[in-house]
Amino acid sequence: MESAGGSGFVVVANRLPVDLERQADGTQRWRPSPGGLVTALEPMLRGRDGAWVGWPGVPDEDVEPLEENGLRLHPVTLTSQEVADYYEGFSNASLWPLYHDVVAPPVFHRHWWQAYVRVNERFADAVADVAAPGATVWVQDYQLQLVPSALRLRRPDLRIGFFLHIPFPPTELFIQLPWRSQIVEGLLGADLIGFQTPGGARNFRWLATRLAGSTATAAVGRTRGRTGDLDYQGRRVRLGSFPISIDSAALDKLARSDTVRKRAREIRAELGEPWRIVLGVDRLDYTKGIDVRLRAFHELLTERRVDAEQTVLVQLATPSRERVEHYQEMRADIEQSVGRINGEFARVGHPAVHYLHQFLPRDELAAFFLASDVMLVTPLRDGMNLVAKEYIACRPDLGGALVLSEFAGAAAELTSAFLVNPHDLDGVKNTLLEALDVSEEDGRRRMRSLRRQVLAHDVDRWARGFLEALGVDTSLGDDETDDDAEADARGA
Ligand code: ADP
Ligand code: F6P
Repeated sequence: MESAGGSGFVVVANRLPVDLERQADGTQRWRPSPGGLVTALEPMLRGRDGAWVGWPGVPDEDVEPLEENGLRLHPVTLTSQEVADYYEGFSNASLWPLYHDVVAPPVFHRHWWQAYVRVNERFADAVADVAAPGATVWVQDYQLQLVPSALRLRRPDLRIGFFLHIPFPPTELFIQLPWRSQIVEGLLGADLIGFQTPGGARNFRWLATRLAGSTATAAVGRTRGRTGDLDYQGRRVRLGSFPISIDSAALDKLARSDTVRKRAREIRAELGEPWRIVLGVDRLDYTKGIDVRLRAFHELLTERRVDAEQTVLVQLATPSRERVEHYQEMRADIEQSVGRINGEFARVGHPAVHYLHQFLPRDELAAFFLASDVMLVTPLRDGMNLVAKEYIACRPDLGGALVLSEFAGAAAELTSAFLVNPHDLDGVKNTLLEALDVSEEDGRRRMRSLRRQVLAHDVDRWARGFLEALGVDTSLGDDETDDDAEADARGA
């Protein structure tokens, strides 16, 4: 709700749901931001008439508040230096690798940290300006871990929730961080801190009691998803796990549309009507295990257990964090592997691996999901992985098979997938072969069970679960969606 005194519900995230793009002719346009956070939150916020505070995705741009597709957006300006130090530096070269099991070595610089503090305070200032008295503020993700406490200092009247979209690391890794106590204290400014998994909440709880002098209460909360509370500076801070999801019904509907089904048939034809299409869809990130699946595919071709005449691999990769060194190195490695596989196994006009380093529109992605036989989701570590859930939502035909890493948060829910350990290359190869050869009956049984989970546990249910635990009255809409979706999954 927006009133003269501000918004009653405010989401604050590093990025706005849209990025500003300057065209060569000097005009500007807005395009969807990359990543799972926006995919999940945008439909949730649309239904709640709130405001969104975030960075418009380009440096040195002072953009006035605007309304975009019915959402009220409040841009926060970052300078080029801040983008380098706060976003590319501390967020994505210190925290990102540290929180993802140090898959790449984290780099720590004091000036990056100082920029992180400064930018978090700016976000807190922006929210303090926008939020109505007593408003609910929902702070998102690792880029903004100091915002809860900074905001509480400025506006003690607010109800503050925080949700971490990425894994919260094991305690032994977290304590490498030179500013570990400040981060923990920053988060403790929230009334509720949400994690993707119970393990993340437990790790945080243990650290908080040691690093911030808070005392864990013995009580286990009764609210769904809660794993225990902390007392901190005379306040109760609630902790819980809330596995995020997608707008499953919307994707299911999109995948049933004539245009997407037609496009899926075209994609199969454009790929030469292969026996099997294997698909990967990711932000181009070293945590996603794109190299793992390329290696597995390459070895299977070399050993002649897969025939390039019959089976193709399609890898769609959104460009991401292109100025960060680890990302540049990984991109070069992946593109070299694709070139090598095609060099050895392609025929003219028939690549073995189709690789697109492009952002694709949603209906095109849905068509790829529907066209493919096996979806490969092989991250070395991932908070959730929404792509896995999107694939399932796009298979009302009960076709397709999902190969899913045990190290994605989604594996806890999607137990009927073909689960793999991405560190075990032989295991990945054998499981890929199993998925390629799955019988129609077993494939449909697995997909039906996966769909029941994904359609019932959608992003709206996630948001309601979190907001209810935060003490917000969520009786906004009806509850029929879950039942309808479940019935749909059963009947599909
Ligand atoms: P992350 O949040 O780390 O990026 P997720 O799997 O949770 O990972 O979310 C990724 C989101 O980005 C999904 O909504 C997915 O559909 C979208 N996405 C991934 N690759 C592409 C692409 N090539 N074009 C458009 N969207 C993409
Ligand atoms: O949670 C994953 C995440 O880091 C989000 O915070 C972010 O919106 C998305 O991935 C995309 O990353 P970036 O904003 O760095 O392009």
